[in-house]
Amino acid sequence: MACPFHQTAELNAALLPLDWLLGNWESDEPGEGCFPNINPFRYTETLHFSHVGQPVLNFMFNAFHAESKKPLHRECGFIRRQPGTNRVAFIIAQNSGLVEIEEGELTGQQLNLHTVALARTSFAKEPHVQEISRVFQLRPDGKLEQTVSMATVNQPLTQHLHITYHRSA
Ligand code: HEM
Repeated sequence: MACPFHQTAELNAALLPLDWLLGNWESDEPGEGCFPNINPFRYTETLHFSHVGQPVLNFMFNAFHAESKKPLHRECGFIRRQPGTNRVAFIIAQNSGLVEIEEGELTGQQLNLHTVALARTSFAKEPHVQEISRVFQLRPDGKLEQTVSMATVNQPLTQHLHITYHRSA
């Protein structure tokens, strides 16, 4: 049964500057993935941002292989904004066994984030990630773009992902 509170909750005023993220997004063209020493790949992804009236957004990202449609990368977590500032934090759990906190600045409808903390399961796959940077940007045409870069023990900060989404039902 749907939670009636969830459906009627008003967005907490602290999150109004992030209201452009809310809802469901689906990749347009498949996104492009790359990194030194891996084969370039294409993927599709759905994003879901929601809230229950608290000063925190909930999110879930699900990525799939563009051709086989097989589920691949998944992330979920929470977004908080430091009151009275443009500072935003993403608290993220990834299906690969990585957990991280990314913080950064909100400038208009663009978010620039960088890891401030990162941990992983003791048996996480190598090479281990050392840093992650991402940019979310709402474009004037209403599309959302995400670019992710990462550094591993073997590579300095290098782009891994770029993808564009449109709003979906
Ligand atoms: C912040 C999010 C992500 C992190 C930290 C991450 C991390 C990594 C790492 C560390 C590698 C191995 C790189 C190497 O061998 O040098 C990798 C490879 C890969 N990632 Fe990601 N990834 C992320 C998101 C995604 C997403 C959304 C997809 C979409 C499907 C994806 C698909 C892949 C694929 C296909 C490979 C190559 C695997 C292989 O060749 O064995 N990743 N990623």
